[in-house]
Amino acid sequence: MAETAQRDVNNHVLFEIATEVANRVGGIYSVLKSKAQVTTSEYGPAYTLIGPLNRKSAAVEVEELQPTDPALQKTIKSMNDRGIQTMYGRWLIDGAPRVLLFDTSTAYGWLDEWKGDLWNVAGIPSPPNDAETNEAIVFGYVVAWFLGEYVFHEKKRAVIAQFHEWLAGVALPLCKKRKIDVTTIFTTHATLLGRYLCAGSVDFYNNLQYFDVDAEAGKRGIYHRYCIERGATHAADVFTTVSHITAYESEHLLKRKPDGVLPNGLNVKKFSATHEFQNLHQQAKTKIQDFVRGHFYGHNDFDPEKTLFFFTAGRYEYRNKGVDMYIESLARLNHQMKAANSDMTVVAFIILPAQTQSLTVEALKGQAVIKSLHDTIKVIEENIGKKLFERSLTWTEGQEPPESMELLSPSDKIMLRRRLFAMKRHNLPPIVTHNMVNDQEDPVLNQIRRCQLFNNSSDRVKIVFHPEFLNSANPVLPIDYDDFVRGTHLGVFPSYYEPWGYTPAECTVMGVPSITTNLSGFGCYMEELIENASDYGIYIVDRRMKGVDESVNQLTDYMFEFTKKSKRQRINQRNRTERLSDLLDWKRMGLEYVKARQLALRRAYPSAFDGEEDGPAFFGSHENKISRPLSEPGSPRDRSGMMTPGDFASLQEGREGLSTEDYIAWKLPEPEEEDEEDHFP
Ligand code: UDP
Ligand code: G6P
Ligand code: GLC
Repeated sequence: MAETAQRDVNNHVLFEIATEVANRVGGIYSVLKSKAQVTTSEYGPAYTLIGPLNRKSAAVEVEELQPTDPALQKTIKSMNDRGIQTMYGRWLIDGAPRVLLFDTSTAYGWLDEWKGDLWNVAGIPSPPNDAETNEAIVFGYVVAWFLGEYVFHEKKRAVIAQFHEWLAGVALPLCKKRKIDVTTIFTTHATLLGRYLCAGSVDFYNNLQYFDVDAEAGKRGIYHRYCIERGATHAADVFTTVSHITAYESEHLLKRKPDGVLPNGLNVKKFSATHEFQNLHQQAKTKIQDFVRGHFYGHNDFDPEKTLFFFTAGRYEYRNKGVDMYIESLARLNHQMKAANSDMTVVAFIILPAQTQSLTVEALKGQAVIKSLHDTIKVIEENIGKKLFERSLTWTEGQEPPESMELLSPSDKIMLRRRLFAMKRHNLPPIVTHNMVNDQEDPVLNQIRRCQLFNNSSDRVKIVFHPEFLNSANPVLPIDYDDFVRGTHLGVFPSYYEPWGYTPAECTVMGVPSITTNLSGFGCYMEELIENASDYGIYIVDRRMKGVDESVNQLTDYMFEFTKKSKRQRINQRNRTERLSDLLDWKRMGLEYVKARQLALRRAYPSAFDGEEDGPAFFGSHENKISRPLSEPGSPRDRSGMMTPGDFASLQEGREGLSTEDYIAWKLPEPEEEDEEDHFP
């Protein structure tokens, strides 16, 4: 908590601290990167992101510069003089925010001392062999050191430090104990216990109030991490989460009601030509089709025009991300499509990074075989073209025009035959593109085996498991993730634990329909905002009130209905989906961040706000939802005066935090007699 009231709150400095600054791991990177533009346009050089230095990713993401802020210069210099190496520069993304990255490896000499100190000042224990916690401690101490020195050199302006997630949270109790004159916000993007409990087979949502948190953390060997998270939560001036469902969870598991919810936005780019995104879909789809042709060589017995691409993607959290439910539903979808004699084919991708050794020979061969076929046909085409031209030149009236087969020379025929023979295959097209380190025990592979989704010709649902994040330098599936998403028809994210869930949100802004659940922050958010969300390509599976089997069936039905759409219907639906983008734009979502910062300043420097009203009244009336599209694809309602994201339960000074009734999107069912069996056989 800050001490003095002299600092200038209007002209303040903002630091945002996280471990995913210029370093992609999961969604927090997406938050920081996509938000950069709105934050830099508000703060300019007064905004700096702070993270640990990952040299590999910083080398491509950051351009080094010299800081211009004298306080920053002095602080960095003084830390450098004491052996802490840093990289300061411009993050090469939209908005080009400044980043300060600490090489934590240069501070490990102090680790033991800092561990002892953490125990003494905050009662947080740290066992010897947890590398992730050690890293969090070193980073936390370096950040607290930095902030302490910075406010010593910068005496005029107020300083806000916003920390994301427990890994960046160690500095929070330190700031408080050392009475560093900054005001702090802690934003959690999940809770440790939530993630761990959900990954097991616990009936999480019906028991949230009853968990013995210390004991549960202890059982899972994460008590010390939990202490860091809880310590950060309670030390912050303002505590926030990314959705109401996680706010509710935090209240029970971290024992502090969040002051508000900061939902995640995206940097929405509008094209000048309205339907440009549809063209991009077609272009990207062609790339995916090229991959599919190679992968299924020898078995390309399905019509590309009647093939739909579904996908799921994310960090490998098998149950939390609902990959179990996805595969089970695909098996049922396969069955339903066969039973209905559907002439459609679904190629269902699973993009989840796992431990792999290399791409499989078979996956590489598939692409090579098709490339050779392509190259050979190009040569033959040229040969035929030349001959056709020659023959046409010598053609005289009364002669038959040249026939195509006679244009094919014997050597062309042999070349072609060779390529056709190379495409002969005795095995089925593989379900996985890589050699997995743990093939026998991999949960995705085992579930696919159990469901027998083996890419048989008769299967209407084919599977491709790509256990690595996508990138355009990959020789088998050479496409970046964003382009891949654009080229697909449907994203499927049936998460069980998902505080927000960027993946379906990203689909939405790219005009790709998606399926999510009412256990994801994004799903609840959209359900609150839009009536008949499915008309807009936002399908929400009920995993809250329904039993597992029913949820699987609902997911299967959504997918099956989707396969019945005509091309025209798909195009129309994509148009409607894309029109929701504005709802997810940081220009709108970012308002909650602004409010959180205001609240932090008010709490730390109340006298600076003397005579002013009690902060903005953030509670809007609950206006109508975006209504159902009529026969013409509907456009979202006129949005003027529409509630801002946090209006469901927004930040407001003078309150103790959200009250439970504020979690309107999240009402608990009465505990049931028997616990649901929440896993698949
Ligand atoms: N993602 C990616 N490459 C991939 C698959 C996913 O970069 O091949 C990104 C995706 O764009 C999204 C993030 O990973 O922004 C996952 O964020 P989300 O909030 O869905 O989940 P988290 O990993 O944070 O739990
Ligand atoms: C976009 C393109 C069209 C293309 C269509 C394919 O709308 O602009 O040229 O025909 O996508 O849609 P589909 O759902 O079959 O991939
Ligand atoms: C977390 C959550 C994810 C969320 C992301 C960004 O990693 O798992 O649901 O979208 O943070 O807030």
